[in-house]
Amino acid sequence: MRIGVLTAGGDCPGLNAVIRSVVHRAVTTYGDEVIGFEDGYRGLLDGHYRTLDLDAVSGILARGGTILGSSRLERDRLREACDSGADIMRSFGIDALIPIGGEGTLTAARMLSDAGLPVVGVPKTIDNDISSTDRTFGFDTAVGVATEAMDRLKTTAESHQRVMVVEVMGRHAGWIALESGMAGGAHGICLPERPFDPAHLVKMVEERFDRGKKFAVICVAEGAHPAEGTMDYGHGEIDQYGHERFQGIGTALAYELERRLGKEAKPVILGHVQRGGTPTAYDRVLATRFGWHAVEAAHQGEFGRMTALRGTDIVMVPLAEAVTELKTVPKDRMDEAESVF
Ligand code: F6P
Repeated sequence: MRIGVLTAGGDCPGLNAVIRSVVHRAVTTYGDEVIGFEDGYRGLLDGHYRTLDLDAVSGILARGGTILGSSRLERDRLREACDSGADIMRSFGIDALIPIGGEGTLTAARMLSDAGLPVVGVPKTIDNDISSTDRTFGFDTAVGVATEAMDRLKTTAESHQRVMVVEVMGRHAGWIALESGMAGGAHGICLPERPFDPAHLVKMVEERFDRGKKFAVICVAEGAHPAEGTMDYGHGEIDQYGHERFQGIGTALAYELERRLGKEAKPVILGHVQRGGTPTAYDRVLATRFGWHAVEAAHQGEFGRMTALRGTDIVMVPLAEAVTELKTVPKDRMDEAESVF
């Protein structure tokens, strides 16, 4: 079999572990040939690829990013790929395509699959917002980075009697904010799923200071927003990939808290630090398992599906199911962290 693999969308720790696992399973077990398209679907369209043998994936398990490069693809070019997909695959002699990516990539995978191409998807995103899988790799790493940042910020915040507003990634789903906020012992957590009232945060900080605690850490997801009428905060524009550009809630909230509290409040925007660097052991294992199962699925002809974690098992689920809705933080998970909301 000849298998094509690509990584698309925002990168995430663990991508290289999937690529390595796909190559190991395909080459050593089945004697397959694997090629890697460069820079996501763009490589497929433009014919940029390289052969991935065992040597090519040696030493990449712990490396962040993706050795293949990644990109987001404009809708028009994606349609182009679907229209000419069969020809493209034929021209490369590919029997199976394994795109590794988030919502956008899997939507594209579904479109290619609907156009009749043999596609097996692998979900990834630090946001953990893909329905049909309990977890995506990259999330555990991102939560670890954000948690460590909060641990560190607490000591400096305490020294200077400051409020730290830590902005983490998560446009529409607040999983990173929820879990890093809990693990990092944040005193307030703001999620996209539940508009917040800055007056509650002000009250919480004042109560802490009254109790003799001279600092506070608030964890806010980039997509969180204040409840209507509680604070001035504009909505962002939409970029060329259809994603909302946020206006910087971390900075806006720190400014607002400083103004209302009369105490120093500093924004800390963690940004792409959360996506960089080496994956945790958990993410390496999940990514490796996903790669292994993707190759198995290709050999069983289970196309139009993606790998997913259910409990502790890896299962194959229809791509159609995976991209119908985002997995957001449910109310019961918010309730568990309520004391800090
Ligand atoms: O989807 C993953 C993600 O890291 C989001 O959490 C974040 O909003 C976005 O990608 C950032 O994308 P970019 O790399 O285009 O800045």
